Amino acid sequence: MGQKGINILDLDVQELISKLNAALSEEWLAYYQYWIGARLMEGPMRSEIEPELLLHATQEFGHAELVVGRIIQLGGIPVLHPADWFKLARCEYDAPADPYVEVILEQNLKGERCAIQRYKEIADFTNGKDFTTHQMVTTILNEELEHEQDIEDWLTDLARMKEDLRKFRM
Ligand SMILES: [Fe+2]
Ligand SMILES: [Fe+2]
Repeated sequence: MGQKGINILDLDVQELISKLNAALSEEWLAYYQYWIGARLMEGPMRSEIEPELLLHATQEFGHAELVVGRIIQLGGIPVLHPADWFKLARCEYDAPADPYVEVILEQNLKGERCAIQRYKEIADFTNGKDFTTHQMVTTILNEELEHEQDIEDWLTDLARMKEDLRKFRM
């Protein structure tokens, strides 16, 4: 970014870049977790949930693009090696070893809650100090909130479906 663009920021730019690189690493792990989980998933409502999880994956990729753009504008170097994703990310990557729909959804839900916490922290860090990053992370945060809500809704529907089946059998 132009020197003036960096000078107007009222915060530690290196610290911001490291927070953004952590977020970037988490986005890549979230992208792959959603994508591979969607492909492997088995169980009720699969045909409905799978395309939505693939859409979430695409949106996580979009977040990675936004974050990379801002890191470069700030004069930083985006994380260069996938091995570093695991070192920088605070959100865990849960390999979808069990393809059952509820297990996959719970794994993704954990990732979303971790992402919400991450962007809340960056929003607090940049609030009133870096309008550009603040605007970007609140936009991303809004999408993470929608993702969390989507997953909670599917889990509720699945639980209701099971409950109804149990009643029907009695
Ligand atoms: Fe994301
Ligand atoms: Fe998300």
